[in-house]
Amino acid sequence: MSCGKFLKCSFCEEPVVTIVRYAKLRLCKKHFTEFIHRKVLKTIERYRLVERGCRILVAVSGGKDSTALLHILSALSKQLGFEVIALHIDLGIGEYSKKARVVVEKLCKDLGVPLVLLDLKEMIGAGITDLVAKSKRPACSLCGLVKRYLMNVTAFELKAHAIALGHHLDDLLPYIVKSFVLQNLSEIGKLGPKTESREVFIGRIRPLYEVSESETTLYAYFQSLPIVDESCPYTARKGSIEDEIRRFLNNVEVKRPGFKIAFARAVAKNMEFYKKGLMSGVSACNYCGMPALSNMCAFCKLTYRLLGKPMGPEIRDRIRKTLIELKLVAQQ
Ligand code: AMP
Ligand code: FES
Ligand code: ZN
Ligand code: ZN
Repeated sequence: MSCGKFLKCSFCEEPVVTIVRYAKLRLCKKHFTEFIHRKVLKTIERYRLVERGCRILVAVSGGKDSTALLHILSALSKQLGFEVIALHIDLGIGEYSKKARVVVEKLCKDLGVPLVLLDLKEMIGAGITDLVAKSKRPACSLCGLVKRYLMNVTAFELKAHAIALGHHLDDLLPYIVKSFVLQNLSEIGKLGPKTESREVFIGRIRPLYEVSESETTLYAYFQSLPIVDESCPYTARKGSIEDEIRRFLNNVEVKRPGFKIAFARAVAKNMEFYKKGLMSGVSACNYCGMPALSNMCAFCKLTYRLLGKPMGPEIRDRIRKTLIELKLVAQQ
């Protein structure tokens, strides 16, 4: 194992940059990259996330996780024969959003991936900061609603097969545990590697389902990916229940390497059970036609309340025009 000066990679003579305990591997930079690509490829196969000829919309925030995801999917898309299009939403959260936008533009240019860039302020005359000032709703919940809507409309208009999100193992497991403890079982159904498309709802895939946070961090670092290195100013304070659970899971992982992946796979096996009833009661919004739980979707309701009119129809129009300009869809 030892070679005097440094530890050698399990596959070559190069120095080790990381030890993957659950796989019993010591890896150099090149073999770590290959290991992550192979791992995501296996995840895609195991959970049938993507098929040949699929069009995948990758939602990229500019943070390390979704940036790494785009980089990995861009490499695998050639091998597996699917199409990758990136989506970035400029949320209008001051300097944070400005930096994120620059980062994603550079990444897509470097990778040669088409980018759909949506500027919230330009589209509805208000960014998240403005909406938060008018609303009693917590910033992250409001922002999540807006992002989900814009992602879904873009994917729907693009006729994409799925939206790829940058959530990884350490994002998902704490929410799964929390939902189980509180017996919100259908919440677990939203946290798996895949949710199916249905009519105007475009399914989500999570190709980093079995990749840990430290692995995405290392990947972004070794690939020198441009990332926005600060977190959103609205990010929840440390000390949440999810943080406590994450610490607990990481402690178990240290003692039992492989525990987190085994847990994630066990949950995925029961996904059909957790997903039961998830889409029940979903119909189409009377205004914009997107998924809704009543006659008005959450986005139309929000914009009606805060900006005086349901803005779904305008947004759909704007996005359609943007996609035609980018030549990603044909003019009808
Ligand atoms: P979050 O909702 O912040 O947990 O982010 C979850 C996932 O949503 C990320 O991993 C990205 O895939 C996507 N995402 C978050 N923010 C943006 C954004 N501004 N533009 C595009 N995609 C985003
Ligand atoms: Fe949405 Fe922070 S990115 S609230
Ligand atoms: Zn090596
Ligand atoms: Zn609507």
